[in-house]
Amino acid sequence: MSEDNHGIGPTSRYSPLRYPGGKGKLSKFVAAIVRANGLSDGTYIEPYAGGAGIACELLITEVVRRVLINDISPHVFAFWTSVLTDTDELCRRIRDVPLSVEEWDRQKEIFRRPKHVSTIELGVSCFYLNRTNQSGILNGGLIGGRNQEGKWRMDARFNRENLIRRITKIADCAGRIEVTCTDAVEFLREKSYDFGEKDLIYVDPPYFEKGRMLYYDAYGPDDHAAVAKLLAELEGPKWVVSYDDVDAIRNLYAFAPQRQYTIGYSARNHIWGREVMFFSKGMAVPELMPPLLEASGTAVSTRVAAA
Ligand SMILES: C[S@@+](CC[C@H](N)C(=O)[O-])C[C@H]1O[C@@H](n2cnc3c(N)ncnc32)[C@H](O)[C@@H]1O
Repeated sequence: MSEDNHGIGPTSRYSPLRYPGGKGKLSKFVAAIVRANGLSDGTYIEPYAGGAGIACELLITEVVRRVLINDISPHVFAFWTSVLTDTDELCRRIRDVPLSVEEWDRQKEIFRRPKHVSTIELGVSCFYLNRTNQSGILNGGLIGGRNQEGKWRMDARFNRENLIRRITKIADCAGRIEVTCTDAVEFLREKSYDFGEKDLIYVDPPYFEKGRMLYYDAYGPDDHAAVAKLLAELEGPKWVVSYDDVDAIRNLYAFAPQRQYTIGYSARNHIWGREVMFFSKGMAVPELMPPLLEASGTAVSTRVAAA
């Protein structure tokens, strides 16, 4: 059975990380935005990169030349740094690491002490927990539980050869990727002077309603407001923001063109979400395309798979 068929699917065809609500499914639409706005020669930027599903796809399929991925999590940063600068060792460890509850405990211990371990150790622990935890949630439970019972066990999402292939494919593009580790608002403030009209920023903050449940670094209403204010004042680069479709967020972005859409998270469980995208002014916005479907009427809250 493919990964898409139960729980939350993979972040994308190319990213080795799973992310709840991973945005790989938006890749085609974002590629259309790049083309419609003549941005292929610019840099594609993700301030909340996580699994960087879209970035990986746009880079590997040569829709954009360069990508800049940023994430506040030192674990996620260590993983991407290892992909780019220590590829062989990362792949060796992924090939050899035992899939056992004892090893999971050991990786959790490494995860808990980011300041006391090496980049490669932290990167492996991020990857290991992402691939063996329920829905890829880094502080979540082990697939199959400590007794390793039930239909799905901890190896269900750990296809070593396939994941190594994805990593080496991304590492082949290392010269076109930059990775940073900072707060997204700070990142945008500091870097925005370097960004130009050919660049595209895709902003995918933690969900407004479900973020606390899903992510390691939860976001509060003031954080969401700070992002909106910054984007409202940003001059130069084009940007797209995606969110769960809730009133509070639509109010924050009342100044921006928007599209509401529904997106399937899991074919088997019929889990779908209603989301909204906002765009910088003056940007050419292509028609929505599958798997994004036009939504209309009053918003209902986004549902996200819990397991
Ligand atoms: C919604 S996910 C991004 C998922 C990503 N678009 C994908 O497709 O995999 C949110 C990510 O933002 C990161 N994050 C949370 N707070 C952040 C902050 N203040 N600055 C930068 N990144 C942050 C989390 O570590 C997490 O990896």
